[in-house]
Amino acid sequence: LLFIAVFTLLFSFKAFAITVGFAQIGAESSWRTAETQSIKEEAQKRGYTLKFSDAQQKQENQIKAIRSFIAQGVDAIILAPVVETGWERVLREAKKAKIPVILVDRGIAVDDDSLYYTKVASDFIFEGRLAGSWLAQALHGQGKVVELQGSTGASAAIDRQKGFKEVVDLFPKLNIIATQNGEFTRTKGKEVMEAFLKAHGNNIDAVYAHNDDMALGAIQAIKDFGMVPGEDIKLISVDAVKGAFEAMIDGDLNATVECNPLLGPLAFDQVELALAGKEAPKWVVQDDLIHLRENAKETVASRKY
Ligand code: AHR
Repeated sequence: LLFIAVFTLLFSFKAFAITVGFAQIGAESSWRTAETQSIKEEAQKRGYTLKFSDAQQKQENQIKAIRSFIAQGVDAIILAPVVETGWERVLREAKKAKIPVILVDRGIAVDDDSLYYTKVASDFIFEGRLAGSWLAQALHGQGKVVELQGSTGASAAIDRQKGFKEVVDLFPKLNIIATQNGEFTRTKGKEVMEAFLKAHGNNIDAVYAHNDDMALGAIQAIKDFGMVPGEDIKLISVDAVKGAFEAMIDGDLNATVECNPLLGPLAFDQVELALAGKEAPKWVVQDDLIHLRENAKETVASRKY
C-alpha cells in the first residue's frame, strides 16, 4: 500500500511538473475553437500545465510564442502552424534546447524532418479528393464550380485545393471557374461569395469551401442574391462542425467532409512518447469521412463539436 501511495504521489508530482506550450493559430473558425478546447481539456485531465498562445493568424506571433516557451523551459511544444513554410530557424532553436515539437492539424514544409517530433493531423489531400468525388457525381460530371480557399500558405488550403482539383480535372466538363481566399472565416466567405455571384450570377452550379464557416457565409450570400442554396447552387465544405449539420438539416448545405478537431488526446499521447524518449511515426493520421445532408438528422445528436 505504501508503495502504491508513494508511486501515485510521485506520478502526480511528475505530471504537475510537466509544462507544455501550445502555439495556436487563432480562433477563426468553430473548428479551431473546438481544437483549442480539446487540447486545454486534455492538458487538464492529465495534470499538465499548459501555456497557451493565440497568434491571431500571424506566423510571427507563433514564432514569438515558441521562443518564449523555449525561454521558459517548457517540456514540450504543440504547434498548429498557420502556414507551411518559414519554420526552420525557430524549430532549430527548439531542437537545440531539446524541446520536442508536436505539430497538430496542419503540416509544414521543411527539408529536415528531425525538426519536429511528429504531426497529428488529417490528410487534407484526401479530404479534397472526397469533396471532388462527391461533387463530380452530384453534378453528373459537368458544371461550373467556385472555390472558397482557406488562408494563403496554410497546408489545409494548399492540400484541399490539390486533392479537389485532381478529381475535378478528370472531368473535362467540370470546371473551377473562380477560386479565392476566404480566410477560413464566415465573414470573408460571405464577402467572396457575393463577389463570385456578382461576376458569374446564375452561372454557378456549385461551391467548394475549404471549411464549413466559409460555406455558411456563402449560404447567406446565395440567399441574399435570391437563389436557393443546396438546390440552385450545391455546396460542399470540410470540417463537419455542428453549424454544418444544422445547415444540412435546413437543406442549405449538401455535404461536409469530416476533419476531426478533437486532437487533444492524440497530441498528448505524442508528448508523452517524446518525453519517454520513444519513437513515433512522423504522421499520426486522423481518418476522415463524408457526411451527407440526407443523413444529417440521424447523425447530429452524436456529434461532439
Ligand atoms: O487546419 C484546419 C482548418 O483550419 C479547418 O478546416 C479550419 O476550419 C481551420 O480554421
